[in-house]
Amino acid sequence: MNCRWIVAIIAALLFVGGHVDDLRAETGHEGWLRYAPLERLAAQKYQTLPASVVVLGDSEISGVAQEELLRGVRGMLGRTLRAGKTQPKENAIVLGTLAELRAAAPGLRPSSELREDGFWLTTGNVGGFHSLIITAANERGVLYGVFALLNKIALDETLTSLNEVQQPFAPIRWVDQWDNLDGRIERGYAGRSIFFENGSVRADLTRVRDYARLLASIGINGCAINNVNADPRILEDSFLPQLARIADAFRPWGVRMSISVDLGSPKLVGGLDTFDPLDARVAEWWRTKVDEIYRLIPDFGGFVVKADSEGRLGPSTYKRTPSDAANVIAHALKPHGGLVFYRAFVYNHHLDWRDPKNDRAKAAYDNFHPLDGKFDDNVIIQVKYGPIDFQAREPVSPLLGALQKTNEAIELQITQEYTGQQRHLCFLPPMWKEVLDFDMHAADGRTPVRDLVAGKTFHRPTGGFVGIANVGLDANWLAHPLAMANLYGFGRLAWDPNLNPRAIAEEWTRLTFGSDPSMVRTIADMQLSSWQVYESYTGPLGAQTLTDILGSHYGPGIESSEQNGWGQWHRADHQGIGMDRSLATGTGYATQYSLPVAKLYESVATTPDELLLFFHHVPYTYVLHSGKTVIQHIYDSHYEGAERAAGYVQQWKLLQGHIDDERYQSVLARLEYQAGHAIVWRDAICNYFLALSGVPDTRGHAGNFPDRIEAEAMQLQGYVPVEVTPRENASAGRAIECLQAQGCAATFRFTRNPGWYELDVQYFDQNNGESRFRVLVNDQVVDQWVANDQLPATKIGADSSTRRRITGLALRPGDQIRIEGIPDREEHAPLDYVEIHPSPE
Ligand code: GCU
Repeated sequence: MNCRWIVAIIAALLFVGGHVDDLRAETGHEGWLRYAPLERLAAQKYQTLPASVVVLGDSEISGVAQEELLRGVRGMLGRTLRAGKTQPKENAIVLGTLAELRAAAPGLRPSSELREDGFWLTTGNVGGFHSLIITAANERGVLYGVFALLNKIALDETLTSLNEVQQPFAPIRWVDQWDNLDGRIERGYAGRSIFFENGSVRADLTRVRDYARLLASIGINGCAINNVNADPRILEDSFLPQLARIADAFRPWGVRMSISVDLGSPKLVGGLDTFDPLDARVAEWWRTKVDEIYRLIPDFGGFVVKADSEGRLGPSTYKRTPSDAANVIAHALKPHGGLVFYRAFVYNHHLDWRDPKNDRAKAAYDNFHPLDGKFDDNVIIQVKYGPIDFQAREPVSPLLGALQKTNEAIELQITQEYTGQQRHLCFLPPMWKEVLDFDMHAADGRTPVRDLVAGKTFHRPTGGFVGIANVGLDANWLAHPLAMANLYGFGRLAWDPNLNPRAIAEEWTRLTFGSDPSMVRTIADMQLSSWQVYESYTGPLGAQTLTDILGSHYGPGIESSEQNGWGQWHRADHQGIGMDRSLATGTGYATQYSLPVAKLYESVATTPDELLLFFHHVPYTYVLHSGKTVIQHIYDSHYEGAERAAGYVQQWKLLQGHIDDERYQSVLARLEYQAGHAIVWRDAICNYFLALSGVPDTRGHAGNFPDRIEAEAMQLQGYVPVEVTPRENASAGRAIECLQAQGCAATFRFTRNPGWYELDVQYFDQNNGESRFRVLVNDQVVDQWVANDQLPATKIGADSSTRRRITGLALRPGDQIRIEGIPDREEHAPLDYVEIHPSPE
């Protein structure tokens, strides 16, 4: 029997007996809130659920909570509950705050006091009727309780003897969006803004409401809606009523809206001749502006501030400090309950790279630690998790352990700026969990980052978690169907950082795709390994993501971080690689940590392998704790990583027929692409370090491509060879392109044994043209396609390099293989190489 059949049969057997979800086509728009019908057996468990739902309050949030419950029960159990108000008149699900419940059920009291947004699910007597009660200290908590109950049903959990209190770990659970007023999104990879278009707030805010619903369902209670590189126009008088419309769309879901502001606004918008935070006119301007905002938006959340950073205006213009700047705004917000999120991402991007003592990683601590205690209590310092910038691996920012008298929030990135831009699978909760669990030794006993940011360690009034989400107009919000697990995971960890990533991945998968145990395991396994896989083919041993830091932040760009002022240096040379950040011989960054942590990183011997090159410059031949040399690790991890990325395609294929075709195909296409692009990464990095170090790969992989035929080595008709820079971003540093409108061809002869093969055509797909390609074997067309993907590239290179795999080709020696390309606009049907592999068994 053909092996493919065996695989198919095994796959089918694995899934027998599982939950067969409804396979109607799905766009992913509903995210994890699909409320898919339960199987008959599972639904039976909820037969005793009361037939009515009564809401005691009459606020917008209460109304939404009741509707959500109706919607969820209708979807999953096929029953429409009777909707009532004020008093139950029969056994009911009762929704209300503790205050609202007091009259009807005076004896009802949770075992622990409910904090803001916390809720209690219980059963009891309300007005003489047996009730399932969802109660909380505030209305938002009641809504969260409704989502929790619906989650239990979706996850097939029992509701008998329900008595469960859930409290959020921290008050701040926010997402930021980096949307521009013109509708583009900075570092957004899923279409245009749901908020803005052409300089105005969109007329139709349906998507905004849907987004708020998703956020509420995972306990997110705030959202800053515009780019931290803020357009000052957002504070113009004429714009504020538009913002109020967004706040109105958020409000029923308990999501507070906030905005990013330009610190220069008093001058840029207000017409003053200064924005000096210590000038009384500036303070007055902020006060008047804030009062005006609150007249329109009574629950306005506050401001996010990026200042003195990457060209943004800031207090340094007037030799003032970040606390001067933050406090003047905080003062204006204070009477209204508003907050300032002042970002610690303040650094000099014109550092002298020749000076080995310079170190961007030190900036956040150097700028903010001396100000500890100087910020008002409604200021929160928003700190990126690492000292650089959302790299695939960084140590935890030392600032997180160094603020004792200041509120802080950790900034995590849901949008995958440096982690594959939602074209690569990269589930981030395992990384976030490592960060949140990391013990900073900031005081006696354990002081994990999660406690520090939540304000628990130093008893701060507020603090928590901010995730940069950047959802867009794409139907499924984040483009890659599996990327929504990052938004979900962020919300879940912000609510409870003690959750484990596997539980989160499984829960998300069940809600998103269905409950078949094998499917859940397969998807969760893929998700859980994906960050390490991504890291292994992109950036080794803490050298950061070796990407093009000057442009797209996407494909390999190894030298882009060197010899410039941005300070993302890895300092690779012929002998070795890494930044020496020790006190003894380097920049001294390691001393920004508390003593036990500083000691760990100070010495090469104790620094964990995965961060070695972040803290130390070592020779390529340095032997890691793993027993491998650094250079061999670089080769091996990149080959293994690319192989594991290819494995995802096989794993996913086992799920065909168990997931609706729309989402199945969409994920498959991305995984196929990722498998190809992982090879682009692998080759760029291995070839680069092979050439730089001169140390051969003991396993013989790096630099050896036995199955590869370079395009420039083929017989060319019209096509001309071009040099590619940097050279490692195309195979052998060269490609071919076609400059004649009627098209060109590249031909070669197959010389291997007769058999079944697959043919990989590596070409470049720029976003400024749609070239067409055809592949012919002995004049028979075996494949054709249009290069119309929207990759972040306008030229030949690693960002545009992509692969077309043609499977199941019967080839014989002497066969002529011909690739024809027809250029379009700026894209000249560019080709890199072809690889021919025997078809897998
Ligand atoms: C990164 C990102 C920028 C962003 C900045 C920030 O550098 O590339 O687009 O503005 O972070 O967080 O402010």
